[in-house]
Amino acid sequence: MNGLFISFEGIDGAGKSTHIAALAKAFEAQGRVVTLTREPGGTPLAEAVRAMVLNDPMDPLTESLLVFAARRDHIHRVIAPALAQGHVVVCDRFTDATFAYQGAGRGFDWEVLRMLERWVQTPEVGGGADHPDGRALLQPDLTLWFDLPATVAAQRLAGARVPDKFESQPSAFFEKVSGGYARRLQEHPQRFARIHADQSAEGVWQEALNAVRSKGFLP
Ligand code: TYD
Repeated sequence: MNGLFISFEGIDGAGKSTHIAALAKAFEAQGRVVTLTREPGGTPLAEAVRAMVLNDPMDPLTESLLVFAARRDHIHRVIAPALAQGHVVVCDRFTDATFAYQGAGRGFDWEVLRMLERWVQTPEVGGGADHPDGRALLQPDLTLWFDLPATVAAQRLAGARVPDKFESQPSAFFEKVSGGYARRLQEHPQRFARIHADQSAEGVWQEALNAVRSKGFLP
């Protein structure tokens, strides 16, 4: 059975979590083995990086290099091996979050992020100086983008818990992040599904499920 890679994206407060768990269960009910993971994170090294990125002030280049370093470790230790074994990898955020948060949100150079993406998302160990552009990149087979207005997300987040570095950003930051996701959708229309997250949890789940089914990934 072929491996399958599905990522979940959206601004903080978009409400991905319950649907991530539900989708994992839906695949397991079909007899698939699911690797449930997240970014930044998914390995001891990447989880250590996550703590830094979510809590420590740093400039956007430092932040971008750290999330891509964490991603490299995560791909080689977890994602690529799981896909090779035919697992379904369900990942809470992946590279689109870097374009959205560090690129659009923090204003870091989109083209440099593209270059880092090409270097990091290769199945082989050691990209190397001869890494030719255009080599098949490891990308999700499907990205579910939970889209909702920044003001609604802010209301959902308010008082929910002690906010981290990103969660404490104003709505204007998340409007920029949403713009980054919209740009990624335009650049990768074939793998992106935009989910209208500003509705009941049941409605959101049906949209997410339909997106997965329409790709033929679930019956
Ligand atoms: P999130 O996935 O929302 O987890 P939780 O539900 O535990 O808060 O938090 C991860 C945060 O990291 C989120 O604010 C987005 C940010 N982030 C980046 O800035 N760049 C990235 O590349 C990734 C993967 C996440």
